[in-house]
Amino acid sequence: MFQTTNVELIDKLFIYFLVVAGIIFLLVVFFVFYYLFKYRRKQTAEEPEQIHGNEKLEYSLTAVAILITGIFTYLTIDTMRKVQDIPDNPEPFVQIIGHQWWWEAQYPETGVITANEIHIPVGKKVLVQLNSDDVIHSWWVAQLGRKMDMIPGITNYVWLYADKPGEYLGTCSEFCGAQHAGMRIRVIADEERAFNSWSQQQLEPVAQLDDPLFKKGEKLFEEKTCTNCHAINGTPFTMKVGPNLTHFASRKHFLGDLKVNNEENLRAWLHDPQNVKPGAKMPNFIFSDQEVDALVEYINNLK
Ligand code: CUA
Repeated sequence: MFQTTNVELIDKLFIYFLVVAGIIFLLVVFFVFYYLFKYRRKQTAEEPEQIHGNEKLEYSLTAVAILITGIFTYLTIDTMRKVQDIPDNPEPFVQIIGHQWWWEAQYPETGVITANEIHIPVGKKVLVQLNSDDVIHSWWVAQLGRKMDMIPGITNYVWLYADKPGEYLGTCSEFCGAQHAGMRIRVIADEERAFNSWSQQQLEPVAQLDDPLFKKGEKLFEEKTCTNCHAINGTPFTMKVGPNLTHFASRKHFLGDLKVNNEENLRAWLHDPQNVKPGAKMPNFIFSDQEVDALVEYINNLK
């Protein structure tokens, strides 16, 4: 049902532009040098014959320019129409919300909510709804589909298609503040079975450990008001200001894909967020080493 992907359509249009622009460029360069040589100053030169205008040539060049522009206008509009065929009542597979400076993903069908690492099934055209929570961001994973702005108060849609399983990288493509450059995208395309088991796993309630350090971390998470911003499903913590941390430990990267999710990076982040990601909305809580130990134990067990 989906023979040519959107990416292929965009690629094809780009190649047309490249070829025609390349030919014109080469012609211009050729004629510049040809006439430089032909009319160079000669030793015995007399004044060359003076010619004024050539209407035929001027009209035909103008006609050719209008024709080329016309063809490309048609090709561009046609490609836009094919790429952006959004149904009247869109039922998005996933809603992605841009925040300063991270991505939130909500899957309406299953209720899964995650951050930064966005999973999609492979070999399936998925409709994505794009919104922003604050300023204008722009979604772009070039291998999967077109670029699309996320504008506060406006809902945009884009089709994504991954033909092979794997990880696809992109980045926010609209300047959105201090950490714009750190607002990277990682889309993980899974085979259907892997995608379903990922969804299942994300829906599981968080594990409760009896470990005293884990308990201490959980208590600190509440006392230190982490809960004012972060939700953890299956607990009383439901605020949605920062990323949902329900299955934080199952993500390989964090901070808008800026850092690998390991203990060292998590510690550095909890100790001094501004040092790791200047401008980030996460305040510095000035945790002691012991407090960081407990919080890391807690957060790293949210699988
Ligand atoms: Cu978000 Cu740039």
